Amino acid sequence: MANSPLLYIVAGAALSYFLYTRIALYLARQRFIKQNGCQPCTARFHKDPILGLDVMKVMNYNSKHHIALQENRKRFQTLGNTFHSKMITMPVIATCEPENIKTVLSLKFKDYSFGHRQAAMGPLLGHGIFNADGERWANSRHLLRPNFARDQVADLDAFEHHFKMMMKHIPRDGTTVDLQELFFCLTIDSATEFLFNHSTNSLRMLGQDDNSNEDMIFGKAFNFAQSDITARFRYGPLNRFRNNKKGEEAIRICHTYIEKFVDDALQFRQELDVEKKAGAGKDEKYYFIQEVAKQTTDKKRIREELINILLAGRDTTASLLSNMFFQIAKKPEIYQKLRDEVALLEGRTPTYEELRNLKYVKWCLNESLRTHPVVPGNSRYAIRDTVLPLGGGPDGKQPLFVPKGTTVGYSPYTMHRRHDLYGPDADEYKPERWETLRPGWEYLPFNGGPRICLGQQYALTEASYVTVRLVQEFKTMESRDAGEWQEGLTLTCCSLNGVKVCLTPS
Ligand code: HEM
Repeated sequence: MANSPLLYIVAGAALSYFLYTRIALYLARQRFIKQNGCQPCTARFHKDPILGLDVMKVMNYNSKHHIALQENRKRFQTLGNTFHSKMITMPVIATCEPENIKTVLSLKFKDYSFGHRQAAMGPLLGHGIFNADGERWANSRHLLRPNFARDQVADLDAFEHHFKMMMKHIPRDGTTVDLQELFFCLTIDSATEFLFNHSTNSLRMLGQDDNSNEDMIFGKAFNFAQSDITARFRYGPLNRFRNNKKGEEAIRICHTYIEKFVDDALQFRQELDVEKKAGAGKDEKYYFIQEVAKQTTDKKRIREELINILLAGRDTTASLLSNMFFQIAKKPEIYQKLRDEVALLEGRTPTYEELRNLKYVKWCLNESLRTHPVVPGNSRYAIRDTVLPLGGGPDGKQPLFVPKGTTVGYSPYTMHRRHDLYGPDADEYKPERWETLRPGWEYLPFNGGPRICLGQQYALTEASYVTVRLVQEFKTMESRDAGEWQEGLTLTCCSLNGVKVCLTPS
């Protein structure tokens, strides 16, 4: 058999087929490149052309020393706004060009997917909206979007309740407090109430160590499962060899906890159906899970979608508040301007309408999301050969070919600090710039295109509400952290050292 002519024929045919497909692909790509006027991009970050091991080494060092964002920005400043890189064997194009990002997220949306998210996020998130692509994603978006469309989806009374719980942990005698820790508790409490109709009440239990409390067990498990996603990303394909019993147990706890509320919601739906038939009306208070249960009875589906939204919505809002107050605590003049604006309310809690009209509060939030975007970097994976409008040629102003299988990484952090887009003071936290600033794709805290954040309105309402109430309650806020803001980067980005402040009651 070893010398069988048949073997030579089969091997020859396979080789010819291989060569034929390669050459055909090469020629098709050359035509595509020509048609689109693409030019090569000569800026390259990696030196190791096969595995990009040098990139991995630098990335690991930067993330260990909490300098990933600033180093990434420096790389853009040295190499240009678009450059080539590598992740293990995967080709990467990194960009901070608004036009390129618009193309990836909107104009050529169908040319991209999430790529390798499922392996890291799948165990906790399943196939929910934050982790799904294509048809499955469109389906999730269709299911969930109406639940966010109501203008007043966020419940101010609920925010007030959680805010009051938070106040119990803020000393009134000038002792230092870490606001970031409190914001993280507040947002999981309000998000679980909004989503499941049951709050984890972590603020009520803060400082206690009741290991038998279900809500507390869930809170800890959810935190662990979330940080484990970051580890799964880091390990990549090697993750399957990792002994990760704790991570798996955390995921199991999260799923079981949420399923209880799914059962309640389905029960609610049944009662609703019965009452509707009988012509009676049920309590109309708005709860997310019940709205979803009106549209589907698939238990796993509801659980997956809800846990996705909890993940998308909890740390993000807490991080926004933390990053913003880190800045403001160091700038008493900004705090005073907030006080002046909020004084219009004469001590009353704000209504929706009033919240919407507080211009300076809005500028402060916008400016925080600009200088410290909560999702500072993101990526998409090209599922077919495609093209970016910028990045090719020696000046980076020509179109750039993106072969199928390339990851396009984009950096809102770097883009939001580009001097040519925001001026020479782009690094400064200056809410006043929003008086005239009307950015387009160069400002992207909530993403853009068909996958734009669904919870933007909810998040901004919650963050504004907490800001207003805090400013009403305290006449000064002073930073108790002599250092600069440092990145605490996981899936989202908050302050590494928390937000240590001292507050003086009004
Ligand atoms: C300051 C707060 C927030 C920021 C900065 C933020 C930012 C983002 C970003 C950048 C994405 C795109 C992620 C990607 O496609 O890779 C996203 C998606 C999403 N966000 Fe937010 N978010 C915030 C708050 C919230 C809240 C409070 C909720 C829900 C209550 C929420 C729900 C979602 C959902 C469901 C998606 C997925 C949309 C889709 O893929 O179609 N977000 N968010």
